[in-house]
Parts: sequence; C-alpha cells; structure tokens
Amino acid sequence: MSGGEWWRHAVVYQVYPRSFADSDGDGMGDIPGLITRLDYLADLGVDAIWISPFYTSPLNDGGYDVEDYRSIDPRLGTLDDVDTLISQAHERSIRILMDIVPNHTSSEHRWFKEALATEPGSPAWDRYVVREGRGEDRETPPNNWRSVFHGSGWSAIRHADGSPTGYWYLHLFDPTQPDVNWDNTDVHQEFIDTLRFWFDRGIDGFRIDVAHGLVKEEGLPDYDYVKKSESGSILEDSAHAPFWDQDGVHDIYREWRKVADEYDPPRVFCGETWVPNAERLARYQRPDELHTSFNFAYLEAGWDAARMRTSIDETIANHARVDAPPTWVLSNHDVVRHRTRMAPIDEDGVRDLERGLLRARAATLFTLALPGSMYLYQGEELGLFEVVDLAPEVRQDPAWLRSGGTDGTRDGCRVPIPWSGSSPSFGFSSGAASWLPQPAGWAQLSVAAERKVEDSTLELYRLGLRIRRAEASLGEGPLEWLCDDGTVLAFRRSAPDGSSVICALNLGTGIARLPVEWGTDFLVASGQDVAAMSTDEGDRIAIGAETAVWLKG
Ligand code: GLC
Repeated sequence: MSGGEWWRHAVVYQVYPRSFADSDGDGMGDIPGLITRLDYLADLGVDAIWISPFYTSPLNDGGYDVEDYRSIDPRLGTLDDVDTLISQAHERSIRILMDIVPNHTSSEHRWFKEALATEPGSPAWDRYVVREGRGEDRETPPNNWRSVFHGSGWSAIRHADGSPTGYWYLHLFDPTQPDVNWDNTDVHQEFIDTLRFWFDRGIDGFRIDVAHGLVKEEGLPDYDYVKKSESGSILEDSAHAPFWDQDGVHDIYREWRKVADEYDPPRVFCGETWVPNAERLARYQRPDELHTSFNFAYLEAGWDAARMRTSIDETIANHARVDAPPTWVLSNHDVVRHRTRMAPIDEDGVRDLERGLLRARAATLFTLALPGSMYLYQGEELGLFEVVDLAPEVRQDPAWLRSGGTDGTRDGCRVPIPWSGSSPSFGFSSGAASWLPQPAGWAQLSVAAERKVEDSTLELYRLGLRIRRAEASLGEGPLEWLCDDGTVLAFRRSAPDGSSVICALNLGTGIARLPVEWGTDFLVASGQDVAAMSTDEGDRIAIGAETAVWLKG
C-alpha cells in the first residue's frame, strides 16, 4: 500500500458489522461476511474502512458496551477472522480502523464484576466514577446528570443483599455502560495495552468513541440543561457541559499519540467529538494529539447554503491553525440517514424522499470535493433511506427502550443493507431473517440492482470516488469560493500542478446557469438535469434543481 499521510485525504467507509453481511445465516452480520464483501468495497473505491465494535459484548448498545476489548463476540467471528480481514483488506489497499470505547465498559467487563464483589471505596471501584448520594440517606443521585439514553446518569450500588450502599456509579449512557475513571492509572494502562494489542495485529488506527467525554469536571457540578443538539444526535452539544469536552481529555490523547507514533507506519486516530464549535474541535487535532476528528457541525448544517458555508469556512480555518485535515460526514449509525434528513416535508408532514435522494446525492458530491477526508456510512452509496416504521418489538436502541418509545430512533439507520434479490433479506443473510427487518422496497436499492446501472446512486459514488482519486486538486489542499448567492455554492480546488476542479451545488428549486468563465468541461453531476448551453456571452453549463456538478477548472 502506498504510504504517506493517507488519512489527510482518505475516503473512509463505515461498516456497522451486524448489518453489513451475514455469513452464517443467523440474521446478524459478521466478520467473515465482511471479508466476502471486500471486493465490493475495493470496487467502490474507498481508501479505508472503519468498523463499529465487534468485541465480546452483551450488545445492549450494539457493541458499544464492551465486555472484553481483546476478544471478538462469537456471534461476529473470531480473532483469526480479524487477522484474515486485516490481511485481505490490506491486499486490496484498504486500511482498517477499529472502534475503541474508552468512556465506559460494559457492566459485564471483568472490572465491573470485580467491583461489584467489593464495597465502594475499594481499588476495584476506583476504576469507575463513584460518588456518595445526596440527602440524609444518600438516596438521591450525587448530581443531576442525565443519561444520554434518558433517565438519571447514576445507578445505586447495592450490597449483596440488595440494600443500598449510599454510593452511586455514573453512566452517561446505559446503566450497563458504567463510565470509567480516567484518574485511575489502571485505566490508562489497560487502554494503552489494548491499543498495542490491535496495532501489533496490524490495524491502521482507531475511531475513538465519545472521545470528548472521558474526563469530567472536578467536583462533578450539576448541569443546567438548556440546549439539545439539532441533528437529533444523541449527544448534546452544549458549550459548558461538565461531562463533555473538558481540557484534561487532551492529555489522554497525547499519551495515545505517542503509542501510535511508535509504529511503522504510524497508526492513526479519528475522534468522535461532539463539541460546540470549530475552535474547540481543532484542539483535538493539535500535532501531538489525534490525527482527525469528526466534524459534526457540518452534518448539522443540513441542506442550508448559509449554514454549510459558515461551517465549511470555520472548519477549514480552525484546522489550518493546527495543520490538520478536516473530515466531513453526512451519515453514520447514530443519526437519521441523510436522504431522509434532507428530504423536504410537505404540508401534511410527509417527507419527499425522491427530493431527499436528489439532495443527498448532491450533498455527497459537493462534500466529496471539500478539502480533507470524508466518511461514508454503509448503504448511503445505495441511496438508502431511514426506516422509520420499525415495530416497537424489534427495536433495540437503548434510548428507545429507556424513553418509553419517545426517543432513540437509531435502529432506523442500522437496518441490514440489501445486496441482491427481490425479497428480504436481499442477499444479506443466507438464513434467518435479518435482525432488523428490511423494507420490501429495498429490492430496487440493492447493490445488484444498482451496479452498472447508469445514473444509479452506487454508480455516482463509484464515479465520484474515482475522479476524486484521479484529480490532483481533490482531497487535501486549498479551497477558493467562487459563488455564494444563497442558492448556489461553488468553489474551486487547485493543485500545485496547475490543474483544478470547480464544484457547484444548486440548492435552489430552479435551474442555475453557471458563469461562462467556469467552462463546460463537465466531469460528473449528481443528477441528470445538466446541460451545456450556448448564450450570447458564450457556452456555459446549466444545472437543474438540487444538483451538484464537478467541472474541470
Ligand atoms: C457513540 C456511539 C454510539 C454509542 C455511544 C455510547 O456515540 O457512536 O452508537 O451508543 O457512543 O458508546
């Protein structure tokens, strides 16, 4: 594989392993299934894959509740399978990022079991965040922090006979996901050993789960809950939450970076960082910290020219100050798929998913032209929409369960993807029905239905990725704005060799005629409504509503 700082311009494809490909017919995707689909990913043209957790886990939070960081859940495969995955992916020049979960363990983790067998105050309990309750009987949680998945963020620690000890443990997520105490040296050592364990096996890096959450404000003060994130994300984005984005978290990443840099080639990190602004985000990418981090402000900008432009400018400016590449992402396993999210809602409250697809394709093509690296989420290349009508009994998102069905819609983007055929499971599994049922309409959105079909979403992604690789100006490098009139956003990307690409996005509902100076040397468009036209001033390109185009500059 060619080396260099590949992560500065990579296209990384997120695999949610339970929903990608099932090899043993139990209805749940697995690592051998993923291995059989590596050719598909190579053909798509991605540089790397990030795989959501496949460690041994009770799967109360889809594997983000880790029982053992160094073994594989038997339902998903074996260590040998992972070794095969790594070598087979590398043979195809695809790098592998795994997912590490350092904010909390599962309550099935040996540490938590060890703690439960002791009384609060023991060294075993010191690996978790434990405090005395409030009130005379200490029956009130230590502070008002809530779980992201609803309800209190604290659970009572009980004696063996079930009576309360007066102490509580913190869980910012599910009660089966106790937060670990990053003031404890065992915790530091355990995670460093885990990093080394996987780096030694040859993985290329880690995505870091809840990277902004590990350190909590001294004294654990109450929090004034005021603002909810606009993306519908499960993580709140307040500037001052005493459990997010504390300065002390950066020391951990300095320690981790040293470990990653011991390897040849150096291993890399991408943080899951829900932080309030681009300036706070860039701190995670200082030269001795993480290589990259997710830039969720852009995801939250939605289909809105002004907000997109602001987010892009702020992101680029702040990342430049720390010499780090921005990352861009439109969908992942925690948010509503962008086809659905961007779909306009009519007077009856119904989302227009056809326009949603038009917009999603345009947004993706536009985003792929931005400087830095891009993350894609499995199935978006097929134009999948969010499955909004899953029956309550099949849902598994802990936020759904804990909110009494009023929140926690993340199962809708985790439905197994369609590969082929005309009925569920659409080639996902050879046996049982998929663990979350697929909509019948997904036959038209399967890989087999879209591959080699001109203008399909899959072919658009393939073409976009191919051109992105071939054009020296795409990936990392400067961006120059050409137009921002509230309807059309356009910029030029230029390479040192003098070549350039112009990317224009028409967010409006009418045709946009692009300036004559931009030429008519058309590379790719997100929709079919693109034409060269002759006018008195010269030849120009006109693009239809909600369409993006790349032109050779
Ligand atoms: C991250 C993951 C999400 C998980 C949570 C708790 O936000 O992306 O899926 O539920 O962390 O680990």
